[in-house]
Amino acid sequence: MAKELLKKISIKEDVEQKVKAPIVEALKIAYDNPTYQFHIPGHTKGNAIFKDFKKLVGEKVLTVDTTDEFDNLGTLHPATGPIKEAQELAAEAFGAKKTFFLLNGSTSGNLALAMALTKKGQKILVNRNCHRSILTGLIISGAEPVWICPNKIEDWSVWGNIEANKVDKMLTENKDISMVWITNPTYEGVVSDIKAISLVCKKHGVPFIVDEAHGCLWNFNKDLPETALKLGADAVVHSLHKTGGSMSQSSMLHISKDSCLDEVAIEKALKLLHTTSPSLLLLASLDASRANLQSKKGQKLLEKAVENAKYLRKRLDQIPNLHQLKGDFGYKTDVTKVFVKIDGLSGKRLESILEIDFKIEVESASDIGVLILCNLGNKRSEFKYLADALEKIAENHYQDIYYLEKRKHMPMLDPIIKMSLRDAFYAEKERIPKSEAIGRISAEVVAECPPGISILLPGELITEEHLPYLNDYDTLEVVK
Ligand SMILES: Cc1ncc(COP(=O)(O)O)c(C=O)c1O
Repeated sequence: MAKELLKKISIKEDVEQKVKAPIVEALKIAYDNPTYQFHIPGHTKGNAIFKDFKKLVGEKVLTVDTTDEFDNLGTLHPATGPIKEAQELAAEAFGAKKTFFLLNGSTSGNLALAMALTKKGQKILVNRNCHRSILTGLIISGAEPVWICPNKIEDWSVWGNIEANKVDKMLTENKDISMVWITNPTYEGVVSDIKAISLVCKKHGVPFIVDEAHGCLWNFNKDLPETALKLGADAVVHSLHKTGGSMSQSSMLHISKDSCLDEVAIEKALKLLHTTSPSLLLLASLDASRANLQSKKGQKLLEKAVENAKYLRKRLDQIPNLHQLKGDFGYKTDVTKVFVKIDGLSGKRLESILEIDFKIEVESASDIGVLILCNLGNKRSEFKYLADALEKIAENHYQDIYYLEKRKHMPMLDPIIKMSLRDAFYAEKERIPKSEAIGRISAEVVAECPPGISILLPGELITEEHLPYLNDYDTLEVVK
């Protein structure tokens, strides 16, 4: 009898530990209860699709490729049914008051924030190395960015942290700045003191938005930095698809618990920006990635990813001629983003050696180094292989062919602004040869992806210093 009871209790515990994933559940029910489908998408559960594609992706994925409104799956705008429930569960997991699921990535989150919270002519403090989606948002709204340049880490040709003191000084000198919008971490994993910046924003009474696209794992592991949602930011975007385990282009926008931002305006902007046929597959993958991060298995995977990153960093420390970026500012940084350089090799050359000789693909490469992401899904054996490969490359004195090109990848210039962002973007323009562009005003966003940081902004004066970043461009669009 006691045994039976124990068994029952343990079954109950198992059930209780199962993390809920309402969209995943609803899709499963829809899959198990097929209907005669006379609605979109027209491939009709994969029945009318190119057969090689079907073979590649599998029948099941096409069967569940559907949009909202059908099969009791709920709707995205307004959020109803399982989608609403999944967004609420996500808000709870990330420590937010409200969470919106995003299609078209954090890009759509940034666009919505700009549309909802900024107006024509309003001044917004933005870091110069922001993602181009913020620029697009400000072009749409007509707000004026006031650029704050982070510290520069010259040896690595990357932007560093943003000093809270500098934010304070700029807000004191420009009383008409009405919002602060900061990217944290940087693409290469440099972290700013968000707590200190948020206190500055509170002192000046301005809302504080953080583009935390690359930091969606932080709330789920104590060794990673604290999420801005807990450090005083009003709103945060997270690209779950980058590191959180959801499918490409799925992201989240969170409003923090004590924020006074106009949620209705943000929701309205999202409705305008979003497709009217949201992919349930992408929405389910957001639901699944949140559930995974909360589950025991997901927690273990994240712990392992952090351990693997530490292992990799330790191995790399022992390799002569190899260096790793360590942004040690006295607060927690993100160990899972490892930026590496080898003496005598450009990052682009190192990237191609890794790819061709070792079949290793890294996140990105610059003129200086390569960026390695220690993912939830990578195994320890893969990190061993990677460390061995880097060791061999550092020992074998590969010849650099890339340095000869005199090319730079990470734009690190303080912009000289001659015209407003929106005015320059919508001005009468002409396309001219790059060689004639010095002294003219850019009319376009020139930004390579990754990292999507602009080399040129609309309204920025084109100078000789821009040229090493513009090797791939023969012509530029300038204000007429
Ligand atoms: C800092 C930052 N913000 C926003 C984005 C846009 O994210 P998504 O690709 O999810 O649209 C990126 C993409 O690289 C990014 O690096």
